[in-house]
Amino acid sequence: MSFDDIFDASYDRVLNAEPDHVDFFEAFYQRFLGSSPQVSVLFRHTDMARQRSMLKKSFYSLIAFYASGAVDNVLRKIAYLHSERELNIQPYLYDLWLESLISTVRDYDPAFDDEVELAWRLVLSPGITYMKFGYNHF
Ligand code: HEM
Repeated sequence: MSFDDIFDASYDRVLNAEPDHVDFFEAFYQRFLGSSPQVSVLFRHTDMARQRSMLKKSFYSLIAFYASGAVDNVLRKIAYLHSERELNIQPYLYDLWLESLISTVRDYDPAFDDEVELAWRLVLSPGITYMKFGYNHF
């Protein structure tokens, strides 16, 4: 199985898992907000239900970037919004984002193992690199 397929199968499993009636993206944001005061302060005025649904939609563009190597308009707009000129999301915060995500996958995917972890890291890497690079390139 390719890392693409391993990722897809794991993504399906985490979307269908709801331990304690908390869905995957909600659990992710709980962890991400708890990962650092720098993160929680940025979301202090945010409607988190809307935020979860926006992230879920934008996830598609992140994943598509790994497969196609082409940036779509959704990803370009998100990168601009997060850049120094707009939300000013410093690049190191994406590492907290990724580690919070992996730790959520670990708890939500019953088949989690090293291959699954590596698949998530590989699939998300190009999108995260693009977002970090965009910090001061708009
Ligand atoms: C690849 C990683 C990320 C993706 C795909 C992503 C995606 C998004 C999306 C889709 C939105 C909503 C945009 C809109 O309202 O039109 C958003 C908003 C936001 N993101 Fe991210 N994000 C990422 C990483 C981060 C990181 C690392 C931070 C740092 C704390 C962050 C902080 C924010 C903030 C503060 C908002 C605005 C919330 C508000 O409207 O109050 N994001 N993000």
